[in-house]
Amino acid sequence: MKNTLKANLIGKLSDELIELVPSSFDILGSKGDAVAIIEIPEELESYETIIAEALMHVHKNVKSVLAKSSERYGELRLRDYRLINGDPNTEIIHKESGCRFKLDPRVTYFSARESSERERICEQITDPEDVLVMFSGIGPFPICIAKHNPGTTCTAIELNEDAHRYCLENIKLNKLQDRVTALQGDVREVCPTLGKQFDRVLTPLPKGAHLFLDITVPMVKSGGVLHFYHWAPDDDPYSDAVKLVEEAASEYDRTCEFLGGVRVAKYSPGVSKIRVDLRID
Ligand SMILES: C[S@@+](CC[C@H](N)C(=O)[O-])C[C@H]1O[C@@H](n2cnc3c(N)ncnc32)[C@H](O)[C@@H]1O
Repeated sequence: MKNTLKANLIGKLSDELIELVPSSFDILGSKGDAVAIIEIPEELESYETIIAEALMHVHKNVKSVLAKSSERYGELRLRDYRLINGDPNTEIIHKESGCRFKLDPRVTYFSARESSERERICEQITDPEDVLVMFSGIGPFPICIAKHNPGTTCTAIELNEDAHRYCLENIKLNKLQDRVTALQGDVREVCPTLGKQFDRVLTPLPKGAHLFLDITVPMVKSGGVLHFYHWAPDDDPYSDAVKLVEEAASEYDRTCEFLGGVRVAKYSPGVSKIRVDLRID
């Protein structure tokens, strides 16, 4: 988000230090209660309270400022933050595309930057469908899909107990109890208990979704669509992902048709989070 944070720091920090202040940061939440998440370079750590105060001055709705203090790690894809100013309660309600998502970024994965990806998926649904969202977090995909496709039902599976608890709350907040079902557990254990296949399956876990393709492929109906997420080099973003899905499908004597791919977000220099869409027959 572009901001006037730097302008607000004039007179409080030297010009050289202001140059180092990030020109973008994330704001989760809405009018009254928002949390800002910022990356503070090492050289600015001793000035972080001044930066956080300026940020809260510019964005009056921000009640807490968190600094990223690690990369995402582990199977729950969390990261560490330090509270650098404001309310230690960092639970917020984030509004997006007519949906409301309650969450605490300190205990769950959530990326507001991926709202356009959720919109792109919603646009692909040919309502009514039966959709499975594996690795569903606090529920942004299933909720967005069900909210914008009134005949569609979604099943969501998430390992992180906190994220699952928020997903259950979010289903209620968005009045989708009759069409979204959230299950807590490891997809490897939960999927085989569902006893059915789906028109569309999403695997939004770019770090490692390929390790679950042996249980993912059988969840897709014949003629259904798999949205498979992966990290890939920018110079050849889709080949590896398509090959991985084709190989997994061939284990079940099933064939795939590559429908297209999307670069979802930049991950690191030369590497992006991508999605490939395949029809599996
Ligand atoms: C990158 S996050 C995406 C969350 C959500 N889909 C979103 O877009 O906000 C991946 C999620 O997969 C969950 N996860 C990781 N391994 C899992 C497993 N074996 N079974 C179920 N969920 C898992 C993590 O806890 C995390 O919430």
